[in-house]
Amino acid sequence: MATPTDLLTAPPERADIVCSELRESANGVHLLETGWGLVLRYDDVADLLRRPTIFSSERFADSPGAIHDASDPLQRRYVEVFGEVMLFQDPPVHTRLRGLVKRTFSPTATSRMREAVERVTDEILSGFAPDQEIDLVTDFADILPAWVISDILGVPMADRSRFRDWSTGFSAPLDPTCQGDERTAAIHDGAALIEYLEELIESRRSAPGDDLVSLLVSAEEEGDRLTGDELAGMIALLLVAGNETTMNLLTGGTQLLFDHPDQRELLASDPALIDSAIEEMLRFDPPFRWIGRVMREDYEVGGTALHAGQWVFVSLTGANRDPRHFDDPDRFDITRQPNRHLTFGSGIHYCLGAPLARLEARVALPQLLGRFPNLRPGASGPRCQPQFSVRAYESLPVRL
Ligand code: HEM
Repeated sequence: MATPTDLLTAPPERADIVCSELRESANGVHLLETGWGLVLRYDDVADLLRRPTIFSSERFADSPGAIHDASDPLQRRYVEVFGEVMLFQDPPVHTRLRGLVKRTFSPTATSRMREAVERVTDEILSGFAPDQEIDLVTDFADILPAWVISDILGVPMADRSRFRDWSTGFSAPLDPTCQGDERTAAIHDGAALIEYLEELIESRRSAPGDDLVSLLVSAEEEGDRLTGDELAGMIALLLVAGNETTMNLLTGGTQLLFDHPDQRELLASDPALIDSAIEEMLRFDPPFRWIGRVMREDYEVGGTALHAGQWVFVSLTGANRDPRHFDDPDRFDITRQPNRHLTFGSGIHYCLGAPLARLEARVALPQLLGRFPNLRPGASGPRCQPQFSVRAYESLPVRL
């Protein structure tokens, strides 16, 4: 039987099994030696995410991201802007920030982004030939979401490659393993991104276009607008939040089709199944595995008392494979209905970019499979990054 510590040490291929075993013992609530609480059952995860007054998102100050050298103005700037993004806020600050941007990412607004997604996908795939071996991570899935969001935001083509590195700089310091010179360099990259965004925002203020930065600059609700820092933080968040996650959906989804040839055949014979196939990919292999919260009040979950000040992590894998909610949950079934997975979270922080992530997968996966019907695993196998909270492929060689 798995122990909570196994979660930190298990190889990626065992992570799902460890989660299942922990979910089925101790009512699905465990404590790590660090004092962190772990919650793995669907109903508890959903309940907890919908109680922001008890389970707070104001966790940046206690996260590895906040550790910096305050004598370095660039590091101060990074913390000042990133610490204020809505992902790390509770109501009423979160309500205000989300209210100002939610219209720009509504399903209707997102459907207008389809043309950009199709163009970028076509641009990347046109560079490949049948039977060529590529790395689906570095040659496709890592580039696509970054280019799409750059295109939507109106980042000039010439700046896109720098923009991609800077965005990694923005998120890398949140990982506790990013230390020393690597950490300083990443934070400096994050600060360079902020500086770049400030210039971009200024240029759109004086000459608005039909891009997302211009829309965000003019977004207004009841006379309220985003300040300069809030705008830079919001744009950086959109850039970072959607990159690695969507990359993992595209790579993880492809690998699932390799692992389940019957489901791949079914999808090829009935392409209309693409929407439910994507939902099943999201359920079965969530790109984001754990969501963290800090407790503001004592609260009991599954008979275990959790206390104010404690960190709690909810397991999206645990919830998405909970047999109390899904029939035969360990079966990958692209026709599954209903499929109310929690991969995009729940409650007030529900993923703002979910319609865009779905759209990107809906365009990119059929294009990839349609253009290269012989798509198959490459000479060497996939490699995953050993990360706790994010499911990340480092490499996925494929033959087209
Ligand atoms: C498959 C891809 C994606 C997954 C699995 C995913 C997952 C999530 C999850 C679980 C949350 C909730 C975090 C929490 O409760 O603390 C979240 C929030 C968020 N996501 Fe995504 N995401 C994806 C793609 C995107 C994209 C493409 C964008 C934007 C371009 C985006 C922007 C955001 C933002 C801005 C938030 C914060 C919302 C808030 O605090 O109110 N995400 N995402």
